Amino acid sequence: MKLWGGRFEKSTEGLVEDFHSSIRFDQRLYKQDIQGSIAHAKMLGYVGVISESEVNQLVQGLDEILGDIEAGKVEFEIGAEDIHMNVEKLLTERIGSVGKKLHTGRSRNDQVALDLRLFLKTEIDQTKSLLQNLIQTLLQLSEEHLETWMPGYTHLQKAQPITLAHHLMAYVQMFLRDVGRLKDTRKRLNISPLGSGAMAGTTFPLDRGQVARELELDGVTLNSLDGVSDRDFALEFLAAASILMMHLSRLCEELVIWSSGEFQFISMDDGYSTGSSIMPQKKNPDVAELVRGKTGRVYGDLMALLTVMKGLPLAYNKDMQEDKEQVFDAVDTIKKCLLVVEPMLWTMQVHRDTMASGAKGGFTNATDLADYLAKKGVPFREAHELVGRIVLQCSKKGIGLEDMSLQEYQGLSPIFQEDLFSSIGIEHCVRARKITGGPSPETVAEGIRESRKVLEKLLW
Ligand code: ARG
Repeated sequence: MKLWGGRFEKSTEGLVEDFHSSIRFDQRLYKQDIQGSIAHAKMLGYVGVISESEVNQLVQGLDEILGDIEAGKVEFEIGAEDIHMNVEKLLTERIGSVGKKLHTGRSRNDQVALDLRLFLKTEIDQTKSLLQNLIQTLLQLSEEHLETWMPGYTHLQKAQPITLAHHLMAYVQMFLRDVGRLKDTRKRLNISPLGSGAMAGTTFPLDRGQVARELELDGVTLNSLDGVSDRDFALEFLAAASILMMHLSRLCEELVIWSSGEFQFISMDDGYSTGSSIMPQKKNPDVAELVRGKTGRVYGDLMALLTVMKGLPLAYNKDMQEDKEQVFDAVDTIKKCLLVVEPMLWTMQVHRDTMASGAKGGFTNATDLADYLAKKGVPFREAHELVGRIVLQCSKKGIGLEDMSLQEYQGLSPIFQEDLFSSIGIEHCVRARKITGGPSPETVAEGIRESRKVLEKLLW
C-alpha cells in the first residue's frame, strides 16, 4: 500500500510506477533528507506536537537508517517512489507506528526543496575549494612566467606582445568571478522552506526558525507558495556552473591550439594526452577537448531546468522532479573538469623560446611604432596611417619593422630617430605597458598579489 493510498481504489499501473518514480536518482539526497527529518522531528518535540520519547525513537531510527544506507545495507523500492517516502517507509518498518508521525506538518514539497538546497550547499563548498586549487595553480604558473614573452591575439591573428603570466592571469580573473557567483548563490539558497507544507503552510505551531538553526541555515522562506515552487537557487547554480564551464572551455581551447604542431607553445604531459588507434605518431589533447565538449552538457542542464520551470503555475508541480538529474549532472561534470584541468596545467611543458619567437613575428610591435610617433607629436591617426604603409612595405619584402634601416625610416618621416629601434623591441613593448591591468612583469606581479587578496576574501 502506498503511503498516500487512502483515496485510491486501484493500484498504480506498473508502467506508471516506473515512470514517475525518482528513487533511482534522488537516492543521492538520502543524507540531506535524513538530516532534514531529524531537524523536523526534534522541532516537533520542542513545540509539543510529539513527545520526547517519540522524538528519540524517530531520531534513533533515522540515524540507523543513515548508517545502513552508508554501509550499503539498504535496498530502495521503486514502489516507494522517491527518497522521502523510502526513508519514511523504512522508518515505520523499523520503529512501528511512531514513524508515521514524522510527516506531521510537512509535505514532500517542502521536504524536497529543503533537500536540494542542503545538497547544493555542500556541493558549492566543494566546487569552491576545487576552484581555489585551480586559481592557486594559475597564480603559481603566472609567477614563474612573468617574463615568458608570447604573442597576444585578436581574431586569432597576432596582435601585441604580452607574457604567459599576463595571459594566465586573465583566467584567474574569470575563475575569481566564478567563485564570487557560487558564493552569491550559496548565500541566497541558505534558507529553509520547511513549514511551507504542500503550499499553504500548516496549522501546527511549528518553529521554523529552530529547524533552520539546527540545519545551519540563515533563515526561512517568507511565502509558502514560493517556498515549495522556487527553484531559482538551482538555476542560479546551473547558470554559475555554465559560466564556469565556458571559462574552462576557453582555457582548454587555447591549450589545444598552443599544443598543435603549428604553434608548439606548450607540450601536454603524456599523462594528459592520448594516442590514435591508427596514426602511430599522434599525441592528442583529448582531456582539454573533452572539457571543452562537456561544456555542452552543463549548458543543456541549465536550459533543461529553465524550460521545465517556464510557465509552471504555482505552486508545486510534478514537472519539478526533473530538477535533480540536471543539478546532479552539472555538479558531477564541473567537479570532474576542475579536478582534471588543474594537474593538466601544472604538468604541461612551456616552450619559452617558441613563444618568444612567436611574439616577434607578425608585426606585433606596430602599435608601438605608431605610439612612438604619437609621443613625438604626430597625431595618432596619422601615425597609424604611416605605420600601416610601412607594414605593407615590410611584409612585401618579408622583413620585420626592426629590420628596416634608420635611413629608410627617415626617408618616410624625419621624425624617426635611432631611439625608434629600442621602442619597438618586443621586450620593451611589454615592459613599457605598466598601466594597471597591463602585461609588464611588475604590473602582473602586482596583479598576482591583488588577486591573492581577492581570493582570500572570497573564501570567507
Ligand atoms: N519526488 C518528488 C520530487 O522530486 C518529491 C515531491 C513530490 N510531491 C508531490 N506532490 N508529488 O519533486
